[in-house]
Amino acid sequence: MRDDRRTMTSSARLDPTFLRDDAGVVDPDAVYLAFVEWAEATGIQLYPAQDEAVIEIVSGQNLILSTPTGTGKSLVAVGAHFAALAEGRRSYYTAPIKALVSEKFFSLVETFGAENVGMITGDSSVNADAPIICCTAEILANLALRQGPTADVGQVVMDEFHFYADPERGWAWQVHC
Ligand SMILES: Nc1ncnc2c1ncn2[C@@H]1O[C@H](COP(=O)(O)OP(=O)(O)OP(=O)(O)O)[C@@H](O)[C@H]1O
Ligand SMILES: [Mg+2]
Repeated sequence: MRDDRRTMTSSARLDPTFLRDDAGVVDPDAVYLAFVEWAEATGIQLYPAQDEAVIEIVSGQNLILSTPTGTGKSLVAVGAHFAALAEGRRSYYTAPIKALVSEKFFSLVETFGAENVGMITGDSSVNADAPIICCTAEILANLALRQGPTADVGQVVMDEFHFYADPERGWAWQVHC
């Protein structure tokens, strides 16, 4: 582990490359601590449900986070992207509508930097090779169906998960599960 790791939180930018040692190995505890430290540096103390969820994610678990609206699910999603980036896995964020995808794209650019975030919708494609990609659920589902297990999808964060049960659009949420 590099000694300059702690300087990571000196800005609002989350930089997971600090967490890799010279052999590229990442310690889940270090990912968790770095994320909590970053959140605290931005003035946020994780709620218990967020804390529990982030611990599960850095431990490699799949997770359905079902908490009331406005309780900070987005921060857990940021933690998930952070953990994937730290391990060099490509991470997808999906939402049901393009406006939400676009909103999240700009928010993640602010957190992780423009070089780390891309967006793919039916209308446009921006930085499509980035390690974090924002897209609609259907775009990712089509990619999964086309490429199967060889698809470069290291993690999926699916917002508005209740669409899973939607008779018309639910398939796009179900394909990944
Ligand atoms: N631990 C925290 N302490 C204080 N504020 C927080 C914390 N976590 C999140 N917030 C703030 O709470 C607000 C709502 O969070 P967020 O949008 O992530 O909720 P959500 O669970 O995704 O809601 P929805 O179900 O409506 O999508 C945001 O302004 C966010 O900055
Ligand atoms: Mg939300």
